[in-house]
Amino acid sequence: MSGNRPLNDAEARAALDWYRAVGVDFAVGEEPVDRFAASVAPSRARPAAAPPSASPVSGSAPAQAAAPVALSLTSDPSETTALAAAAPTLEALRAAMDAYEGCTLKKRATQLVFADGNPEAEIMLVGEGPGEQEDLQGKPFVGRAGQLLDRMLASIGLDRTKVYIANMVPWRPPGNRDPSPEEMALCTPFLLRQIELVAPKFLVTLGNVPTKSLFQTQNGITRMRGQWRDLTINSHATRALATLHPAYLLRTPASKALAWRDMLSLKQAIEGGS
Ligand code: URA
Repeated sequence: MSGNRPLNDAEARAALDWYRAVGVDFAVGEEPVDRFAASVAPSRARPAAAPPSASPVSGSAPAQAAAPVALSLTSDPSETTALAAAAPTLEALRAAMDAYEGCTLKKRATQLVFADGNPEAEIMLVGEGPGEQEDLQGKPFVGRAGQLLDRMLASIGLDRTKVYIANMVPWRPPGNRDPSPEEMALCTPFLLRQIELVAPKFLVTLGNVPTKSLFQTQNGITRMRGQWRDLTINSHATRALATLHPAYLLRTPASKALAWRDMLSLKQAIEGGS
């Protein structure tokens, strides 16, 4: 056992690699905060006459109160709905989203990841949310999954000049977790307005999260993939296809054949064949 001795370089690097692997990829402060101690710190309302010996923190320095953290639960989706509806253009929408402070995802993200590709395109792809690379570069699907997505598009003659790409949530969920229901509720009005403004003829949902949300289904992506639906998003009517997320395909290469079928189905639709 190493006891309490400091880690050597190799051990410290291994510990950091392990943190990254489990999704801990940023520090929230220079010093650790004991939030258990903070939660039992005497409140101002406590009677001053309480016997010091009865307090669990008696005799020790008062625990430093943790800085208050704003919770997205107190934010209201009707606010984002109103902001989105008031944006007459994509640029105005981007500015409104950039200025919005109500979603906790924003507090931990590097920047807004609004979109990539051609806003005039007739095909729009919707992913789940930015990952690490997207958060750093400010563009959707630029990491490993994005590179696979580019190859999937290229296989049917498409590239980012011919499609428009956005995500259900425009700020990175920490550790690449799924966005919470509250975060989805807050951010979805922005995405719906984005779809309405781009007005794509074809909408492609990538993976579970955008498929369940936009198709308004509880069915998972393995059941939904390959299916086309006529959807009306705000005032815009579009044809939507669900397919597998490229990150899933990286983990499960055997499923690439299914995604390839979906790409062919998209190609056929674009060419007017379905
Ligand atoms: N996965 C997503 O769903 N979106 C991105 O932008 C990147 C990875």
